[in-house]
Amino acid sequence: MSLAYLQCVEESCRKRQELGPGPESHACAWCGGLLEVNYNFQSFDPEELRRLWRQRRQGDGPRDRSGVWRFRELLPFVEPETCVISLSEGSTPLTDVPRTGQWAGGVRLWVKQQGANPTGSFKDLGMTTCITWAAMHNVHVVACASTGNTSSSLAAYAARAGMEALVVVPHGRISTAKLAQALDFGALAVEVGDTFDQAFRLLCEVAPELGLYLTNSINPFRIEGQKTIVPELLEQREWRIPDYIAVPGGNLGNASAIGKGLRELKALGLIEKVPRLVVVQAAGANPFYRMLASGSAKLDPMANPDTEATAIRIGAPANWGKARAVLEWTKGLCESVTDEEIFQAKTALAQEGVGCEPASAAAVAGVRKLCQAGKIEPGADVVAVLTGNQLKDPDYVLRHRSEAGADRRQLRVEPTREALRAALGGALAAEAKVK
Ligand code: F0G
Repeated sequence: MSLAYLQCVEESCRKRQELGPGPESHACAWCGGLLEVNYNFQSFDPEELRRLWRQRRQGDGPRDRSGVWRFRELLPFVEPETCVISLSEGSTPLTDVPRTGQWAGGVRLWVKQQGANPTGSFKDLGMTTCITWAAMHNVHVVACASTGNTSSSLAAYAARAGMEALVVVPHGRISTAKLAQALDFGALAVEVGDTFDQAFRLLCEVAPELGLYLTNSINPFRIEGQKTIVPELLEQREWRIPDYIAVPGGNLGNASAIGKGLRELKALGLIEKVPRLVVVQAAGANPFYRMLASGSAKLDPMANPDTEATAIRIGAPANWGKARAVLEWTKGLCESVTDEEIFQAKTALAQEGVGCEPASAAAVAGVRKLCQAGKIEPGADVVAVLTGNQLKDPDYVLRHRSEAGADRRQLRVEPTREALRAALGGALAAEAKVK
């Protein structure tokens, strides 16, 4: 019997279903709730498992080179010898950022640089598992709606697997770099509507009749890969548990995945306590924050979400129920930050040599705000997940830097030695004055 089964996440249902012969299984057959992949795990010796995972880092095969499949004991929905669709994802740096930690309120801050993944975001962790599952079931056409990163990642993994990728994105509302990535990997990109929510809803409506396999984070096999950030970052910390893990929240798949990773590691005896999860939303797209702040039982979608952090410009997050359960279980926190606060956090990181896209900086902005509110204590040990690469949104940087033109960090001069000498000399003099 297979170790893996699907289970409805709704507390009132929790019914189980077998993994069917077909690949599509996004909704509970009884109540329509979201599904997760769960397992009858065999028992492991925690020390032995840690040793095995560490040893595989030296391994040569495609599964050992992957920071996802290296933890394959946590992914037994594939048989041990399955050929995986991988681009050597994961194994991203965990970097200390002491100056930013000081700026944020005197915390010991580390950042998990998920932008170092093959397509530049954390989405690759979930895409390798999801597309492997699709390949095992002979899927030929895969699709997603996206604010840009899921689509880049899907396009790459579909190309790797020899599948056709269809990506549906809000018109003019994703960064050009992300759109270019999807096109470069050969996806068909369809721009539709003005928001991710609209694109997602329409895609869900047409997917069944067109026989499209959906790879958004409602797909439980995506969550499986994304949860492996937890053992990876804990291993990088010699299994010392941080006090907090902070993530930006959009569709809330990542918060759900991190919660699932923690839950499984605890059940398997690899960790004893769990960190508090911090979910940070952009103020213009913060329906989850509002729900929690108002004590409401249900999420009230926002029809016109708006933030410059386009990756998390989402008004109706599909995974809010799962994410709420994770916050309850980990005694987590949720915060909402303005675009200005996001920019400040991004600048603080950049001044310490760490780049990320705007949505990612929201996590650090949220930590700072929670410190200011006394909800995170000085000296706390915090890991912020930087979900996407700095180069994902160069227009944002250039726009902000030219607005901040007063600091004159970008000059254009005549192509003569005198002009260049004057410009550089002027910059040096200005620098000396500052010091
Ligand atoms: N950070 C980045 C860079 C993202 O691209 C996303 C989501 C998030 C954070 C939020 O993660 O949705 O799991 O809460 N991007 C999706 C996309 C929606 O289509 O690329 P989440």
